Amino acid sequence: MSGCNKVTEAGRRFFLGRSAIAAAGAAAVATAPAAPAKAAPALAQVTYPRARLANLRDLKLNEPVNIAYPDADSPGVLIKLGARVEGGIGPDGDVVAYSTLCPHKGYPMFYRTDDRTLNCPGHYSRFDCEKGGLQVWGHATQNLAQFRLSIDGDGDIQAEGVDELIYGRHSNVL
Ligand code: FES
Repeated sequence: MSGCNKVTEAGRRFFLGRSAIAAAGAAAVATAPAAPAKAAPALAQVTYPRARLANLRDLKLNEPVNIAYPDADSPGVLIKLGARVEGGIGPDGDVVAYSTLCPHKGYPMFYRTDDRTLNCPGHYSRFDCEKGGLQVWGHATQNLAQFRLSIDGDGDIQAEGVDELIYGRHSNVL
């Protein structure tokens, strides 16, 4: 065997040796027990209660009715606005409900019949009840929590959800 052939043979053995080690390592990895997979964090899901708030017959045009939803510690108002609005229910699409806790620091708000807004005496934030609780003025940094409503054939109005976080809560349903 020439010197050149000896070098070639040594290189071939070296290569085959390394290949065998690599194959053995791969097989060991393939047969090793899988590490337990980390569970993905669960999505936040809130199941809202259904709660009867009033009957359509109880409502007078532009006169708020005090309610509480989704529990007794979350005050709000139910209002028949007189014109179809976003999120409105009933035959005229004009019945809405909102939290009356200001999203800024939780002051209880009052309703103004002249411009159909909820108003905060704390730092003067104002929210438009005809526009889904849109903030129109003030310190708050989010729109007002609107309660999702439905109505049945007898005119009973039910609350069944909330579209924003109610002030002071990590979850609307405690
Ligand atoms: Fe309502 Fe500050 S608490 S604006």
